[in-house]
Amino acid sequence: MTDMLKTKDILDEKDKRLRLVSKEVTFPMEKEDIDHINEMIEYLTNSQIEEEAEKYDLRPGMGMAAIQLGIPKRYLTIVHEVEDGFDTYVIVNPKIISNSVEKIYVEEGEGCLSVNREVDGIVPRFARVTVEGYDTDGNQIRIRAREELAIAFQHEIDHLNGVMFYDHIDPKDPFKGQNEYRAI
Ligand code: NI
Repeated sequence: MTDMLKTKDILDEKDKRLRLVSKEVTFPMEKEDIDHINEMIEYLTNSQIEEEAEKYDLRPGMGMAAIQLGIPKRYLTIVHEVEDGFDTYVIVNPKIISNSVEKIYVEEGEGCLSVNREVDGIVPRFARVTVEGYDTDGNQIRIRAREELAIAFQHEIDHLNGVMFYDHIDPKDPFKGQNEYRAI
């Protein structure tokens, strides 16, 4: 059994560890990291189920990178709500190997479990990406993602490089690109 993650376990944006470049993972993975991955999935899933989120006081989120728990290792999890439930993604040492020319942005602004405030502005993201990496057993995997899911992968991979979503917003002109990119 693993402990249940709480919202307070997630690093806040003021924590400088979020600016670290996380290190590549070697296989076999440590049991501790597997446990963390399971905790992350559990948190993300529960946080998107209203009843559970209320019961455990979880902030809703669909993605989490290890560094958000203070672990500077290159792995992330995404729990994507789909019509009949959730699709869960775990990827270790992920790399974007190809991307669309088209760019999109989240119209209501991107969010992050480490950022407890509204941030206005456009974060341009590729509409489609192919991500390559490894599963927890060290097998190579390749994931094709589009729209919201593609944004989630780009957002979480940014975390592995110490980048926050608002780093992509032009402070002098936060809505730059509004007519150039597609809102989702
Ligand atoms: Ni984030």
